[in-house]
Amino acid sequence: MSVQGRDVGPVSMTCEVLDRRRLGRYWGLTLSAPEIARRAAPGQFVNIAVSAPGTLLRRPFSIAGAALGGHVAGTIDVVLDPHGPGTDMLAGVPPGASLEVLGPLGRAFPLPQRRVSALLVGGGYGAAPMYYLGERLRAEGHRVNFLVGAADSSRIIDPIVPKRMATWSSFTTEDGSMGHRGRVTDLLAEDLETTAAEVVYACGPNAMLAAVGDICEAAGVPCQVAVEEHMACGVGVCMTCILPIHTRKGVQNRRVCVDGPVFTSTRIAWEESRYTETAHEPVDDDLDDRDASDHDGRGPDDSRADEGHFTAGVRTVRTGGRR
Ligand SMILES: Cc1cc2nc3c(=O)[nH]c(=O)nc-3n(C[C@H](O)[C@H](O)[C@H](O)COP(=O)(O)OP(=O)(O)OC[C@H]3O[C@@H](n4cnc5c(N)ncnc54)[C@H](O)[C@@H]3O)c2cc1C
Ligand code: FES
Repeated sequence: MSVQGRDVGPVSMTCEVLDRRRLGRYWGLTLSAPEIARRAAPGQFVNIAVSAPGTLLRRPFSIAGAALGGHVAGTIDVVLDPHGPGTDMLAGVPPGASLEVLGPLGRAFPLPQRRVSALLVGGGYGAAPMYYLGERLRAEGHRVNFLVGAADSSRIIDPIVPKRMATWSSFTTEDGSMGHRGRVTDLLAEDLETTAAEVVYACGPNAMLAAVGDICEAAGVPCQVAVEEHMACGVGVCMTCILPIHTRKGVQNRRVCVDGPVFTSTRIAWEESRYTETAHEPVDDDLDDRDASDHDGRGPDDSRADEGHFTAGVRTVRTGGRR
């Protein structure tokens, strides 16, 4: 499908693994995926099929970069934190192998309509989509600042990338092995002032996102977060990934895979973000007055996939609350 000359919506592709590299504790994969790269925007994710014992469902991963051109016409990057059968299998896939990839999925970060100073906050592998967003913001003339945190320095992805890209960057680690000892939220209020941030974008563990949202709200700075919820189908069918969201009609459940993963932080009812059996509500859409004053809401809004391809054989699972 094409909207205003731009291809949108997800495609399913067999992608060659072009490169696999160690990124500290994580692994980075570059995949040949021209159709996905053409459609992708920062904040979106891909669903990758895995072939490990006992795995049925595809696994969701943020798009960490997309490039067009070159002899393969287009590539995407993902960063993997191996810790279970699917991520272990993917982290071991050698260059030359093929992976089945569906994407791009979900809604992208809305980009500012006017030039701003943006502070991008990444926690752990959540920094990966922030680097992709930083490139896009910088290409559009915005001032890009980074606050990147993790448990230790082996979980700070390529620190040279934000140092090169940003006007200003800062690092935190919980064990003090890089930058400030502590968490990103220790520094955020001060860094909002230092960077004169007019908008904050964040991706990381949900507890971090909730705290980042609170600090930004107290400072009066709009904040967009990319959340992570356990997923099954990834395309809006199974209701596994619901998150309670404040709407004009009160708190209603939304599907992270199609209504997110990007949300305005003040919309998320974190205190209620546990699974309830009332999840199966029709999705109306009054979501999209999100930050209308500061953002144009760009990013695919027609990224619903053809459900028919994905329902067969998909088991609905619910694997808990925040990670
Ligand atoms: C939008 C989004 C973006 C993500 N981006 C990244 C990324 O860039 N890098 C990365 O390493 N991981 C990312 N994750 C988390 C990643 O999808 C899970 O770590 C992975 O699915 C775990 O699979 P596993 O088989 O290794 O582990 P298992 O724990 O055995 O997985 C079992 C089941 O639980 C689901 N699951 C387990 N943990 C998670 C989780 N945290 N989030 C969602 N589903 C989960 C799996 O899909 C699978 O169905 C992202 C998740 C989401 C929703
Ligand atoms: S994973 Fe979101 S509806 Fe199935």
